[in-house]
Amino acid sequence: MNAGHSHPDVVEAIKAHLKNDPCPGFSGLPQGYALEKLVEIAPGEMRANLKYSYVAPQGADAIEAAGQLGKYHSQKPGVISFEGGWHGVSGSGLGTTGKKGYKIKFLPLMPGGPTSSPMRTATGCAFGLNYPACDLQCAKYLEHIIRDPDSGATSPGRCAH
Ligand SMILES: Cc1ncc(COP(=O)(O)O)c(C=O)c1O
Repeated sequence: MNAGHSHPDVVEAIKAHLKNDPCPGFSGLPQGYALEKLVEIAPGEMRANLKYSYVAPQGADAIEAAGQLGKYHSQKPGVISFEGGWHGVSGSGLGTTGKKGYKIKFLPLMPGGPTSSPMRTATGCAFGLNYPACDLQCAKYLEHIIRDPDSGATSPGRCAH
């Protein structure tokens, strides 16, 4: 949405916001309220087990945090990302991004990975199939990547999608 340059209503809204959240990007009251709402609508099991929440300043930070949590929790180094996915421009964000044009000049981004898995994208199914007749070939292929010791995937503990 284009609100113009320094629209007075936008400037006032930012000033009001800064009173509650003097350091946008870090967790503050507005993020706390948003998290409370998210917890309220979270599916039962997730809500019951939720102990901690983290509000990332931007998407790439969320990807970094998710990757680190996955690695910490699983103690496995591998990452599987999906073709066509976009995950930002940080090291592992761009590393897991499935768009060659954005990353090609910065390789290697993630030592040893990630392993790429097909997923239906705007350009269609990698297997040339349609749902439901496809019988979820993409999910079956993903399972093969994870389970087959000869797939080349290095013990995936994380999945970026
Ligand atoms: C799934 C996903 N991960 C990461 C990002 C990167 O977000 P940011 O540009 O805020 O770092 C995006 C942005 O669209 C995204 O959709």
